[in-house]
Amino acid sequence: MDLGINGRVAIVTGATKGIGRKTAELFLQEGARVAICARHADEVQATVQELTLKTKGECFGAVCDTSIAKDIDGFVDQVVHRFGKVDILNNNAGTMYSARFENITEEGLKLQLETKLFGFMRLIRRVHPMMKQQQWGRIVNMIGGAGKEPDPFMFGSGITNSALLNVTKSLSTEFAPDNILVNAICPGWVDTNLWRSNANGLQKEMGAVSEEEARRQASKKNALGRFGKPEELANAVVFLCSERASFITGVSLNLDGGRLKGLW
Ligand SMILES: NC(=O)c1ccc[n+]([C@@H]2O[C@H](COP(=O)([O-])OP(=O)(O)OC[C@H]3O[C@@H](n4cnc5c(N)ncnc54)[C@H](OP(=O)(O)O)[C@@H]3O)[C@@H](O)[C@H]2O)c1
Repeated sequence: MDLGINGRVAIVTGATKGIGRKTAELFLQEGARVAICARHADEVQATVQELTLKTKGECFGAVCDTSIAKDIDGFVDQVVHRFGKVDILNNNAGTMYSARFENITEEGLKLQLETKLFGFMRLIRRVHPMMKQQQWGRIVNMIGGAGKEPDPFMFGSGITNSALLNVTKSLSTEFAPDNILVNAICPGWVDTNLWRSNANGLQKEMGAVSEEEARRQASKKNALGRFGKPEELANAVVFLCSERASFITGVSLNLDGGRLKGLW
C-alpha cells in the first residue's frame, strides 16, 4: 500500500531511542522528510547519521527538551528554516512517572505535565497555523494506557495521560474543518529503554523476585502474553499520519496486546 506521504515533512519528538526512533525510520522509508529531537546532542547527531545511512532519506535533528517552551520554539524554527513547513507532528517525547500517590512529589508531577501535557500542546500550537494554511495536517499523540484505566502505581502518568486524551479528542473536533486529523496511541508495555528504567520500581510494586519475573507478570496481563516491539507502535503512527487514514480523527488506539479490557 502506498501511504501517500512521500515529500511530507514530519516531526517526531524523542526519536533517538525506542518507539520514536523506529517511527522516524519508517517515515523516512516512506519518503517523508523527518525532523527529530531529544535532549542529548551526541545521540541526536548519531541517530541522524544512522537513519540517513540506513534509509537514504532526508533527516534533520536538533537538541530540544520538550519540557522547555523556548527549546520547542527554537526547534520548530529550525525545522521550518530547513524544510519550509510541517505536515505531520508525532508528539512522542516523554518518560513515565510511576509511583503511588504517597511517593509522588509536586516537582516530579510538574515535570511530567510540562513534558507531556504542556510540551505536546506547545508543539501543536506551533505547527497548527502551518497545517491550517495548507489545509492538511496529521497529529498523533503518544499517550499511554494508564490514561484510560487508572493504576495506583501509575498515578502521575495516568492523570497526565487522561488530560492528553481530552486534548486529542477536543482538538480533533476543532481542527477537522481544516483537514487536520488528530489521533492518539495508547501503548501498553513496550520493550524499550523506558520499560527498563522503570523495571526496578515495578519489580518492587509487584513483589516480584527479579526483573524477569516482573516482566513475566506484566506480560501475563496482555491477551497476547508479551510486550510490544517499538516497530509495532511505529507502524500505527505512520499509518495514522498517512493519506490512507484520511477519515480517521479523534481516535485513541490501544496498542497494548489486549491489556485493557474495557470498551474504549
Ligand atoms: N515503553 C512503554 O512501555 C510505554 C508505555 C506507555 C507510554 N509510552 C510512551 O511512549 C513514548 C516513547 O516511549 P519509549 O518507550 O520509546 O521511551 P524511550 O525508549 O525511553 O525513548 C524516549 C525518547 O524520548 C526522548 N526524551 C525523553 N524526554 C524528553 C524530553 N523532555 N525532551 C525531548 N526528548 C525527550 C529520549 O531521549 P533523551 O533522553 O536523550 O531526551 C528518547 O529519545 C513516551 O511518551 C512514553 O511515555 C511508552
